[in-house]
Amino acid sequence: QWHVNKNVDNLSGCPQIQEAAACLKGNEVVAFPTETVYGLGGNALSDEAIEKIYRAKGRPSDNPLIVHVASLEQLHQICDSIPDSAQKLIDAFWPGPLTIVLPKTGALSKRVTAGLSTVAVRMPEHPVAHAIIKAANLPIAAPSANSSGRPSPTLASHVLDDLNGKIAGVVDGGASGVGVESTVVDCTVEPVAILRPGGVTREQLEAVVGKVTTDPALSQPDKPPKSPGMKYQHYAPEAPVYLVAGGKEKIQELAKLAQSNHKRVGVLTTEENKCEYPMAAAVIACGKRADLASVAHCLYDSLRAFDETHVDIILSETFPMKGIGAAIMNRLSKAAGGRTIE
Ligand code: TXA
Ligand code: MG
Repeated sequence: QWHVNKNVDNLSGCPQIQEAAACLKGNEVVAFPTETVYGLGGNALSDEAIEKIYRAKGRPSDNPLIVHVASLEQLHQICDSIPDSAQKLIDAFWPGPLTIVLPKTGALSKRVTAGLSTVAVRMPEHPVAHAIIKAANLPIAAPSANSSGRPSPTLASHVLDDLNGKIAGVVDGGASGVGVESTVVDCTVEPVAILRPGGVTREQLEAVVGKVTTDPALSQPDKPPKSPGMKYQHYAPEAPVYLVAGGKEKIQELAKLAQSNHKRVGVLTTEENKCEYPMAAAVIACGKRADLASVAHCLYDSLRAFDETHVDIILSETFPMKGIGAAIMNRLSKAAGGRTIE
């Protein structure tokens, strides 16, 4: 474990960053913070490194990885044509929490893209992520640094809980910022399509490229998603999660019923409502409802925290689908495996 202060000047020159970069050059895998969640990085040009990523996470091999770059020069090494829509989004949102699906060149390990003719690319804004990619001087494939299916990590300790002993190391740069993963957009189609809601909102995208569509699979679970990762259950704590659309009265009623059946109930709520559920065995407040960004920031840590409470079921409040709320609701309904109570 390497500790770094993300605010120091010339991070690329820090011995910790140099060591992490040396591991990446040697085709080892290393976790590091980004502004969304922690990523598990490996050399995107090396089959050996990519194999290690899939193995450490227990990730299905048909689920492609995002390639992270620190410069536009690196982007051009792995994509041969950049559509107009992509160029506009790059100018507006990079570096930042936006991943763009583009036509790829042959330079990458074939394992990175799981056989697709496209590659998902992102330029992270986090100074530690940027410094590591720059020091390694390689495009870095990095999925979220969790065991496949678990909530994504937003702290170095989450990474170690899942992957200790399975990776070369983790660079601890403190809590990641946004808290949910990047938005994934497909720029090989016209209009641009959102494949995964995330850190950059639909409203922000539309201000730059006009109307965008959403992959129909995001709202209709029977359709095959264009982003292979979206078909797997994900982000799940140990106890089953139920999304309760009926507001706090409905949660109170269900919690009482479950307690009377000798079930330990956990409630995922926010600061505003945390005193409303005295009948629950565990109540976790995830940010402030009035500030959805704070909910996104705490979401995965809150889901992970339920594992320590030994509850039998988790009832979760719902959130408005506006702005970052779309990403929060997408992750919660995945965590719930689609179990929603109207
Ligand atoms: O914020 C993030 O994006 C984080 C940090 C570490 O950068 N990374 C991340 O990676 O969330 P991962 O592997 O957990 O999610 C990648 C998503 C998956 O749903 C995958 O199926 C999709 O991107 N994806 C990757 N390549 C794709 C492609 N060529 N076409 C469509 N979807 C793709
Ligand atoms: Mg992930």
